[in-house]
Amino acid sequence: MGFSPCQNQIPACYEGALSQMEPVLSGSAVPAKLIARQVPRLEGRVRAPGDKSISHRALMFGALALGETVISGLLEGHDVRATAAALRALGAQIVQEGPANGSIWRVRGFGVGGGQEPADVLDLGNSGTSARLLAGILASHPFTCFMTGDDSLRRRPMQRVIEPLCRMGARFLSRDGGRLPLGIVGTDEMVPIEYRLPVASAQVKSCILLAGLNTAGETTVIEPEATRDHTERMLRHFGAEVRVEAGEGRDTRITVVGWPELKARTVVVPGDPSSAAFAVVAACIRPGSDVTVENVGLNPLRAGLFTTLQEMGADIVFEKARDVGGEPVADLRVRGGGLKGVIVPAERAPTMIDEYPILAIAAACAEGTTEMLGLAELRAKESDRLSSVAAGLAANGVRHTMGVDSLTVQGAGGAPPGGGLVATHLDHRIAMSFLVLGLAAKDPVAVDDASPIETSFPSFVQLMNGLGAKISSA
Ligand code: S3P
Repeated sequence: MGFSPCQNQIPACYEGALSQMEPVLSGSAVPAKLIARQVPRLEGRVRAPGDKSISHRALMFGALALGETVISGLLEGHDVRATAAALRALGAQIVQEGPANGSIWRVRGFGVGGGQEPADVLDLGNSGTSARLLAGILASHPFTCFMTGDDSLRRRPMQRVIEPLCRMGARFLSRDGGRLPLGIVGTDEMVPIEYRLPVASAQVKSCILLAGLNTAGETTVIEPEATRDHTERMLRHFGAEVRVEAGEGRDTRITVVGWPELKARTVVVPGDPSSAAFAVVAACIRPGSDVTVENVGLNPLRAGLFTTLQEMGADIVFEKARDVGGEPVADLRVRGGGLKGVIVPAERAPTMIDEYPILAIAAACAEGTTEMLGLAELRAKESDRLSSVAAGLAANGVRHTMGVDSLTVQGAGGAPPGGGLVATHLDHRIAMSFLVLGLAAKDPVAVDDASPIETSFPSFVQLMNGLGAKISSA
């Protein structure tokens, strides 16, 4: 056990209970081992599944509001279901109506500070967003509760949220320098803080702002680099007072005023650019493809991949630009053709942090070298994504160099060799990215465990095969 100044050891009576817990979300409809084979081209129209980040927030803000929030377009993956289950354990009433993947979700909230003590440990499966954002909500409630997750989530750093929440007055019980299982000793006497983020992380920013909701006075997060602002947008939508101001240099100051009365709202969740990315890149790397992905969220703090692909020479047309639930959205028409290597600057990383695995696949098929910089945060994702990507490229004969926080890929200028078996390490984006590689590579590409795809994109295989992909059980 390792302890930070405000941490204590987990009481022995809880340790057995934590280790015996069954994961709530075990079982998956996606077969474990999948293989993807080369196809000449992809064609058709598909609709991007609901945005994962916005889906978590819609449920959480619905739970913190009074009245009935009605959500459409919610992503129905395991991660979002983990958030729903945790919020139910806190006293929110959440019901799903209508057919799967077209449901309306109704949330009857408990109001800011009105959650009840959960009767059991909260199991958040694979979901870092659930764990970190819920930590902010739980820390400002006057009870002790526990959260855990799968092998991947239990390896991920939580000190980044423990530290600011301790400064606000909460205490934590954790092991191994701040990892799950985590006990949260909350308080309803939180003190407001001004906190400069040491890492560019929307999850940490959101955690502090959520804690600030149930804290008297003004809580301010200072961001040296702008990250996705879905929390700020949704806070306003639900009636909270949020100020976003320029700070010193490139800093942005985000301030939330505590104890607002959040009001239930209607939320329409736009499609997820991070999920759309797989079909978009697949079309880009198969010459002659013509694919339209409808309903793609284009929040400027999420759209870095599309900018990068255009710099690489991709033919992407943004059609029917519109606003969905306060977020910019368009349909993306992508025609396949030759990509060329580029340098992706470090400053762009926060706007495409989840898209580097799939960008590495585009780079593997491009003409020339692609250099990706500023990737340190990739090591703290569902897996050490920098190492997982590098190992997957190596297994498929793609020449590359991995640095501490960078990746350089030598493109094949067409179909890379392929033929490898890729270890996904419980990481959905590694699984989907290398299956996309298999659609272009000379020899088929297999992934050892595709079940994590259920966390963010349960319809991935069906949607891709509908476009002409050949992905099947291995
Ligand atoms: C997310 C923020 C990002 C991202 C994750 C979702 C969010 O994580 O990688 O998939 O919903 O706020 P970080 O905040 O750790 O960069």
